Amino acid sequence: MNHPCYICGLGSCIPPRVMTNHDLEKLVETSDEWITTRTGIKERHVLEDGVNASDCGAEAARAALEEAGVLPEEVTHVFVATCTPDYLCPSTACVIASKLGISAADGRKGNVMCLDFNAACTGFVYGLELARNTVQSHPDAVVLLVATEALSRRTNFTDRTTCVLFGDAAGAVVIRSEEKGALWQLRDVVCSSDGSLHDLIKIGGGSACRIKEGDAVGADWFISMQGMAVFKHAVRSMTEESQTILARNGISLDELDLFIPHQANLRIIKAVGERLGIDENKVFANVQHYGNTSAATLPVAMEDARRSGALRPGMKVLLTSFGGGMTWGSALLA
Ligand code: UT7
Repeated sequence: MNHPCYICGLGSCIPPRVMTNHDLEKLVETSDEWITTRTGIKERHVLEDGVNASDCGAEAARAALEEAGVLPEEVTHVFVATCTPDYLCPSTACVIASKLGISAADGRKGNVMCLDFNAACTGFVYGLELARNTVQSHPDAVVLLVATEALSRRTNFTDRTTCVLFGDAAGAVVIRSEEKGALWQLRDVVCSSDGSLHDLIKIGGGSACRIKEGDAVGADWFISMQGMAVFKHAVRSMTEESQTILARNGISLDELDLFIPHQANLRIIKAVGERLGIDENKVFANVQHYGNTSAATLPVAMEDARRSGALRPGMKVLLTSFGGGMTWGSALLA
């Protein structure tokens, strides 16, 4: 039997330090006008030195757990979507579990599974699928899904083609099979990928990067991207995946209350909205304030939409995303 699963807590964390387009004008040959026209971005937030993806993720998670009324010792799974983990080892999930007192909580009865995974900007949607499958096979599971990114740590602030695009943030949700007090039912998730396109967006520093102690890191340590190719793929994949999930659930565009696409570029968001033919008032965007925060964009956008009144519990919501890999996917909440 398939157990329904529900989102019962949502939280986000935005680092207080702001970097505006005018700040970037001082670092590279760019302009507020170029960045605004080509991307819609006006500012992004960056982590202070000494504050890491796990700190921001833990703060978002605390808010989600509090809303769900879930104690640390009740969490059974910590899944962390990130392409900028604190370390290659240990997992950021283990670090967050430690910071929240999940792993070592007094009174803990069962085991806790902690797992990082990397689907780049599609991480949150992939994480919803992981959470959904976990709850379906373990109906007592209480899954904490965190999406956290410290992209400023891998941004090359001498490369104007990428440094204007990214920012840091985190979002989190609590997912379980209990309907009481739920915000949304997780109705369906679709996840896709095309590994033959893995060269389009890269962040080095894995084991393919051969450096020894004392070496300076090269440009491949930082984010690199073939912008226009990614742009075209993003528009096509998010449009098609959205159509797929709506069709297989028999939901029309008119029935949707809100469409929250990955926040990478306002032009991409508008193009997807137009191709789908969705009322522009139902398309949520906050990329102007944060830039692209990769896996974190969707839960951060959900929280902002909720605070603005655009998103309320029980609404029919379509989420869609794309990212490095290439990966892409969509989720339906109701
Ligand atoms: O989550 C996945 C992450 N990635 C994305 O979502 C990115 C998808 N791609 C994009 O958003 C867009 O392709 C960009 C915003 C990255 C670039 O916009 P574009 O309209 O594709 O510009 P372009 O790359 O074709 O560059 C146009 C011009 C070039 O100059 P020339 O060759 O025409 O003289 C660039 O060198 O703009 C120049 N340029 C800049 N100028 C001022 C590139 N970056 C900048 C900059 N400031 N920051």
